Amino acid sequence: MNRDAIEDLLARMTLAEKLGQMTMSPAGGAKTGPVRGEATTEAIRAGEVGSLLNIWGKAATEGFQKLAVEETRLGLPLFFGVDVLHGHDTVFPIPIAEASAFDPDLWEKTARAAAAEAAADGADLTFAPMLDTARDPRWGRMAEGFGEDPLVGMRFAAAKVRGFQGGDLSSPAAIAATAKHFVGGGAALAGREYAAADMSDRTLHETYLPPFRVAIESGCAAVMAAFNSVAGVPMTANVPLLRGYLREKLGFDGVIMSDYAAIEELIDHGVAADRVEAAALALKAGVDIDMVSGVYLSALPEAISRGIADMRDIDAAVRRILALKMKLGLFDDPFRRIRATKPLPAIDLALEAARGAVTLLTNDGILPFADTVRRIAVVGPLADAKAEMVGPWTLAADPQQCASILEGLRAALPDCDIGFAPGVFIDGQDVGGIIEAQALCEAADLVILCVGEAANMSGEAASRANPGLPGRQQQLAEAVLASGRPVVAVLFSGRPLMVPFLAEKARALVAAWFLGAGAGRAVAEVLAGRVDPAGRLPVTWPRAVGQIPIHFSERPASRPLESDDPFTSKYIDTSNDPLFPFGHGLSYAKVRLDGLQLDRNEFKSGERIRVTVRAENLSSRPAVETVFLFSRDRVASFAPQVLELKDWAKVELAPGETATVAFTLDAEDLACLDAALTPRLEPGDFDILVGLSADRRSLLSARLRCRA
Ligand code: BGC
Repeated sequence: MNRDAIEDLLARMTLAEKLGQMTMSPAGGAKTGPVRGEATTEAIRAGEVGSLLNIWGKAATEGFQKLAVEETRLGLPLFFGVDVLHGHDTVFPIPIAEASAFDPDLWEKTARAAAAEAAADGADLTFAPMLDTARDPRWGRMAEGFGEDPLVGMRFAAAKVRGFQGGDLSSPAAIAATAKHFVGGGAALAGREYAAADMSDRTLHETYLPPFRVAIESGCAAVMAAFNSVAGVPMTANVPLLRGYLREKLGFDGVIMSDYAAIEELIDHGVAADRVEAAALALKAGVDIDMVSGVYLSALPEAISRGIADMRDIDAAVRRILALKMKLGLFDDPFRRIRATKPLPAIDLALEAARGAVTLLTNDGILPFADTVRRIAVVGPLADAKAEMVGPWTLAADPQQCASILEGLRAALPDCDIGFAPGVFIDGQDVGGIIEAQALCEAADLVILCVGEAANMSGEAASRANPGLPGRQQQLAEAVLASGRPVVAVLFSGRPLMVPFLAEKARALVAAWFLGAGAGRAVAEVLAGRVDPAGRLPVTWPRAVGQIPIHFSERPASRPLESDDPFTSKYIDTSNDPLFPFGHGLSYAKVRLDGLQLDRNEFKSGERIRVTVRAENLSSRPAVETVFLFSRDRVASFAPQVLELKDWAKVELAPGETATVAFTLDAEDLACLDAALTPRLEPGDFDILVGLSADRRSLLSARLRCRA
């Protein structure tokens, strides 16, 4: 099958068959949105469906594929698209947790393993990675992505695309990646799902587009347009961004699909009067595949007769869809994935990923807990909650594969007496169990309090105006803290939760996100000190909802908070500081950075700057530390961000060891966007800053002059 064959096919296709290729439908399987009708056997047989979503498993996919290749007029194969956000059969940590490992190799490996499992279940394409920069924890979809920083997003994008697609998309173990949701969903108004986003072009280009650009440069096969509008233009109909930016500027020639029913929802956005106009707008913007709404099939013929849709756009879309099927090897063997052998579950990898994501937020020295601890009270509704450990967006996985924290602790500490009391439910008002939980705590040497969100409280359609502890968990936590026993709090969530009281009163606070199959074991190993907590926050963790949106790279305020003067940029009722900065995460070892050096004081375009810093492990434990490199442009034509992440490195140090951590910066890494949003290096001074988090007070700094 080659390009000529595609042209030949196109010449033989009827309009209905072309529109069929542009139609993606559900057909049973998982429901990931409002049900709007499903593909029938007759529709598939009539060639009215080109792809199916969220159907997997040999029996189902083989049956549908046979229908398509054996019973349609042209015998065109279907492709199957499935949401594989953090594992298919084997559940890896949710993406925001995996991002905490700051480890692109790991990000790639988990995508590779997930792809092999999903492919052997019939998937040809996944609706992942999710590349929405997210700075608002009210938005539940923060769980699905890499967090707040575009550089992290760029590396995450490249790793995930490589992992899903491998080197050869036709391999039976490779699946096409879909960079989603293009673009701006993370900036939804007030963190409310599906709401409009509004931002400057500068912010769009600095912060939201770069991960998508890198996905495209990495060969990503598909892009999904976002539900939201940006600056008044719904993404499903966004000509400047879909055609202008993706197709023309980046040269993207893969498939663009809508999100679930999003073409029809152009009517709700108020830019289309009816389904015909909606279909025409999406086609004009360059959306090739209509996911779920069925309006391409039913309304584009009318749009053509009204003169608002162009046959050439339809042909171009069908060419791209057939080219994707060709690259996936589906014309050579439509059953290549369906009949592939399933790999063994990737349990070791899931454990490695879970270990890398556990993030120690506070610790007064209680952790790792002493060998003398014999009686442990494990308390809280998330302590023995296997099914919650999978987190949001696991369609195919069996939650039984996850060990709960209670199971993990009992397996890791057979000599300890470990009691359990849930105290309260995750949500709801019943406080009947608190007395029993408190009694258990009073008789214990150590309390492990497991609180937070249920798995389905983050992910899609899970915005929260008050992202704290749901239900009566705060009451439970306060009762447990009042027992006077040392309390270690383990927090489960798909986003930072606003729990300053726990940060203050618990002896240690651990962010366990949703860690998947390795959850129970990884948390137990970290608490017991067998594994060092290596996770570092990929998002700034606010202390109050009123601080949202919050991130480390804001632009300077007119009157920055640098003195006690009342007329500075600050709150009068809380601190400007987040509860925890981006990059924060404690270790059981103690690493000190000093001796920041640059190999030059001046540079110009095309040159490289070598940055070195000494890292010393002051403790008697081995250390794995993440060292971050930031820059700050002192004076630029546009108010520069107060910190920009430029690189990071993970360093391993034996007890007492000192090592040099080296970074290389290209001059162009310090460019800013000019008035035309083109990167340009401006002469002047830069600060180069290095540290263990984005807390500006803790950074080492050196000055560098650009003579561009
Ligand atoms: C979500 C997408 C998802 C799609 C298919 C939509 O509701 O926004 O992220 O890929 O459903 O499940």
